[in-house]
Amino acid sequence: MSAGGGGADASAPAVALRGVRFAYRPGTDVLDIAELTIGRGETVFLHGPSGSGKTTLLGVLAGVLRATAGEVRLLGTDLTALGSGARDAFRARHLGYVFQMFNLIPYLSVRENILLPVRLEPARRARLGGAPLAAAVDALAGELDLAGLLDRPIGELSVGQQQRVASARALIGGPELVIADEPTSALDTDRREQFLRLLFASCRRAGATLVFVSHDHTLMPLFSRVVELRAINRAAAC
Ligand SMILES: Nc1ncnc2c1ncn2[C@@H]1O[C@H](COP(=O)(O)OP(=O)(O)OP(=O)(O)O)[C@@H](O)[C@H]1O
Ligand SMILES: [Mg+2]
Repeated sequence: MSAGGGGADASAPAVALRGVRFAYRPGTDVLDIAELTIGRGETVFLHGPSGSGKTTLLGVLAGVLRATAGEVRLLGTDLTALGSGARDAFRARHLGYVFQMFNLIPYLSVRENILLPVRLEPARRARLGGAPLAAAVDALAGELDLAGLLDRPIGELSVGQQQRVASARALIGGPELVIADEPTSALDTDRREQFLRLLFASCRRAGATLVFVSHDHTLMPLFSRVVELRAINRAAAC
């Protein structure tokens, strides 16, 4: 097992779940997943009815939520064996997470929100290969049509603009695992395509694994694998 926010085992699958259960309240399981393994570099489209536990599963994968039973291995590290501080450190180092509710810091500018992961985690900054932070932000902002907004506070942005800021923040520093919870739901068609192109290109460049939640089934063919979370809350690979 790797220590705290430490390294990852390059030969281990990106995700390996065994007997995972999660309940917000004792006795009412929201997740019950016997087995789910996702290999390095896979791009996974995760879908299922509203309330089936997609956001909850992403929270467990990201270590925001701690499974109530079972083993949650990410890049070879068992998150259930780590305390919350070590899970936070692991997430900052290895994961990019586009939250369904964005979770942007409202009093910071767009630029500072995008830079948070590389400011907080030196290993993530090192993956920029010595490029100045401003150049990394400018490149992402250019690709996501955010260039004119970098010095604006988050509170002044539209929902679609916030979604693109959240995406840039997840992608900066090329994390090994990118988790995205309905990241295109507020985007118009052109911006959705632009965002998906960037997302896939960023994952390919970094050799990253992508777990992408969406209700938009027209996107399925873009992904290497489809996983359905059924209402009975068991993951089934299709
Ligand atoms: N913080 C919470 N406290 C208690 N129950 C919760 C909490 N968050 C979610 N739930 C419950 O857990 C279940 C799964 O919710 P979750 O948000 O994971 O579903 P989802 O598949 O992401 O749905 P959607 O497609 O609507 O986003 C739901 O029954 C929901 O009511
Ligand atoms: Mg959800």
